Amino acid sequence: MPRLTIDGREVVCADGQTLLAALEAAGVGVPHLCHDARLQSYGSCRLCVVEVEGHARPVASCAEPAVEGMVVHTHTPALERLRRTNLQLLAVDYPAAAVEAEPQLPLHRLLTGYGIEVGGSVPTGATRFVDDTHPYLGVDMTRCIHCDRCVRICDEVQGQSVWQIWGRGPQTRIAPRVGQTLIESGCVACGACVDTCPSGALHDKRSVENAERWTRTTCVYCGVGCQMDVGTRDNRIVQIRPADAPVNRGHLCVKGRYAWEFVTAPDRVTTPMIRREGEWQPVSWDEALDFTAAQLRAIRDRAGPDAIGLLGSARATNEENYLMQKLARVALGTHNVDTCARVCHTPSAKALKDMLGTGAATNHFDDIEQAATILLCGCNPTECHPVVGARIKQAVRRGARLIVIDPRRIELADYAELHLALTPGTNVLLLNALAATIVEEGLVDAAYLSARVDDFDAFSAFIRDYAPERVAQRCGVGAGQIRAAARLYASHGPAMCFHGLGTTEHLQGAEGVMCLINLALLTGNLGRPGAGINPLRGQNNVQGGAHMGCDPATLPGGQSFQQGAPRCEAVWGRPLPARRGLNLMEMIDAAADGRLHALWAFGYDIYLTLANAQATAAALDKLDLLIVQDLYLNETAKAFGTVFLPAASWIERDGTFMNSDRRVQRIRKALDAPGQARPDWWILRELARRVGDGTGFDFASPQAIWDEVRAVWPGGAGLSYARLERENPHWPCPDEQHPGTPVLHIDRFAGFERAALRRIDHVPSPEQCDADFPLLLNTGRTLYHFNAGTMSARTPQTALQPTDVLDIGEEDAQRMGLVDGQTVRVISRHGAVELPLRVSATVKPGELFASFHDARRFVNRLTSPVRDRLVGTPEYKRTAVRVEKI
Ligand code: FES
Repeated sequence: MPRLTIDGREVVCADGQTLLAALEAAGVGVPHLCHDARLQSYGSCRLCVVEVEGHARPVASCAEPAVEGMVVHTHTPALERLRRTNLQLLAVDYPAAAVEAEPQLPLHRLLTGYGIEVGGSVPTGATRFVDDTHPYLGVDMTRCIHCDRCVRICDEVQGQSVWQIWGRGPQTRIAPRVGQTLIESGCVACGACVDTCPSGALHDKRSVENAERWTRTTCVYCGVGCQMDVGTRDNRIVQIRPADAPVNRGHLCVKGRYAWEFVTAPDRVTTPMIRREGEWQPVSWDEALDFTAAQLRAIRDRAGPDAIGLLGSARATNEENYLMQKLARVALGTHNVDTCARVCHTPSAKALKDMLGTGAATNHFDDIEQAATILLCGCNPTECHPVVGARIKQAVRRGARLIVIDPRRIELADYAELHLALTPGTNVLLLNALAATIVEEGLVDAAYLSARVDDFDAFSAFIRDYAPERVAQRCGVGAGQIRAAARLYASHGPAMCFHGLGTTEHLQGAEGVMCLINLALLTGNLGRPGAGINPLRGQNNVQGGAHMGCDPATLPGGQSFQQGAPRCEAVWGRPLPARRGLNLMEMIDAAADGRLHALWAFGYDIYLTLANAQATAAALDKLDLLIVQDLYLNETAKAFGTVFLPAASWIERDGTFMNSDRRVQRIRKALDAPGQARPDWWILRELARRVGDGTGFDFASPQAIWDEVRAVWPGGAGLSYARLERENPHWPCPDEQHPGTPVLHIDRFAGFERAALRRIDHVPSPEQCDADFPLLLNTGRTLYHFNAGTMSARTPQTALQPTDVLDIGEEDAQRMGLVDGQTVRVISRHGAVELPLRVSATVKPGELFASFHDARRFVNRLTSPVRDRLVGTPEYKRTAVRVEKI
């Protein structure tokens, strides 16, 4: 660690730091304009200059390494003159009005601080790019000072390379690389350029007021778990900025940074309501709670506790999900509790738990930069997990090799060495073919197999039937490509696998994940940095919801009944119910045939999001009681709700979320909830007290709930709220001194020494094309919207993507005489919807893709009743359809 003398004071700095970083760490401020810690050193503005004894001239501290023995002077008269001169040059044609209007901006503070008079004129003419067409980002390059931070951050962090430096000398200007406006430029509106701009040349159009208060919290959208600072004023959000946290390193995506208006949407429900004679009637909390509890008690007394089903929420906190499952098991006496993880990543949890012992990602996001090869299977990170997608792009630019397995040509396929565009529903075939190649060509890690893996001989004999040449035609990928991918994954390690719902939402979803685990076991890509099997969890707390015990088959902490029951029973003070519980899909079936009488969901639009909507509707319609706890009257509430309990949004309450890579992170209240809306934990607590005798529900705060979670979950015992204020270690973290576990299974698997390879045969989906339904529809998420659109559709995201569209290949469109933009009718064996058409090169002939964000389109009217064979997840990714002109 180098020792420096800074302005006469001895300072020890970290190895590898720049001089500027060392100065800042020592609390010595020097001005800078072209520097941003997220970017490579640039050294162009020369404001950060310092004198280093032995150097003939001042050096730019942002580009100079801190070296042992340096003697540094930071504010000599000569340096201050130099800084003043450099600022004066910038000020010559800088608009004075801008300084006056926004004195708080970094450039403006420096100009004022050094007493520099700005030119006062506004540069005009075609050379400066000005654009007001984007809903979020404003551009006024008359303020550009050519620090080039926007160009560099778009390139080095987001990887979009929207901005370009055009011209030379005085004609130099910054404008989009393509298109006439930002909208046309390929910009994904992550806001990084705005975040780094020191002059306001790039600015958040809606953030015209300064925040009174900033609150650090966790993003409410996907499962990456980005940290953010929310600026508030007069009980409103006025700006959101990325925080420099391990997960997102000062970066956000368009949804996290800009899509917050759902909090103040005009249709936000802020009063409890009961539906009487078909009409929603506002009532007091006491009336709503008493009514709901009385109905639940009556159903329990009449039909037994198993006539009631409860659903936790991937939108809600760990504490609230814990409370929901405790309410089910303790207050009501049923294991009928599940979450929406059932319809997305329960297959991942099942496969990882069964084969490796822990139902969660094996590695953490920082391993992206350690991986030599990255395998993406059925996930689209640049749209669905954009901050991770950006990190993968950067890793590939730095030399990591990328394999994409996806039916569509997703954006990252352009960065991939190999894109295996398989036919939807053939994951097991393809992944087995990769395994067959690895075994046949001797690419296995023999030492790892010998030390840690069972059943290799039986697996070798089994997998011969899946040689690439045997399966290539059925999965739609050439045998040569399959072999090349297997060789790359097996030979160029460490190899890190990410997968998503393109793997899990199939008849063989869990088995598909098991096939991925087979690949990692064969090649020793587990228990080491830069490797592993990593589900990219969809919603902000889908990992936490199930992990807190909202799963009929597991207790908090992902514990089996055998592991966890004694501990839970001791803490809860009563025995667990003896009968097996129903999962979400089984609850729907039970409702349909009259066995389930009540269903209670919070933060979850069941009707809109479950596959095969007609069957869902028929089941929900038979319920005696449907309790909906949400921000708005969602489609479930509108059509079938009995009671509506208005909830606080994520920014109106405290608690924790659990992200995809096993970090528990705080959310913090920054706003008061509107009207009578209450945090979910408060609503659950009040109902628990009314439904049972109240014992065990005397929680005064989310922290009190979390402390009980730590008592029943040994792997989370070290994650106290006090510690989460300072750091977010990965669980397992059994005590306060434990550093956390970023990589699982290093020496042994969770609970056992050796893992076994699984021999999994391909089973074709019953959902097949024929003459009436000749096309295969695949569904998924897109960049600008989130799941059912409950939040994102109540924001200006609708200007960027107004509705769902149906992607069709050019060849199919031409053959059917269809043109881009026309609305068509899509018909499956299960229903029909109308969608606008987009001719796209991303889908293959015979295949279609649609998102499911827009309740007006209701794409789940098309999807089928087919479910995963092991855990019941619907097969959203494969529906046979036809397309008709309207
Ligand atoms: Fe160092 Fe600009 S900040 S040269």
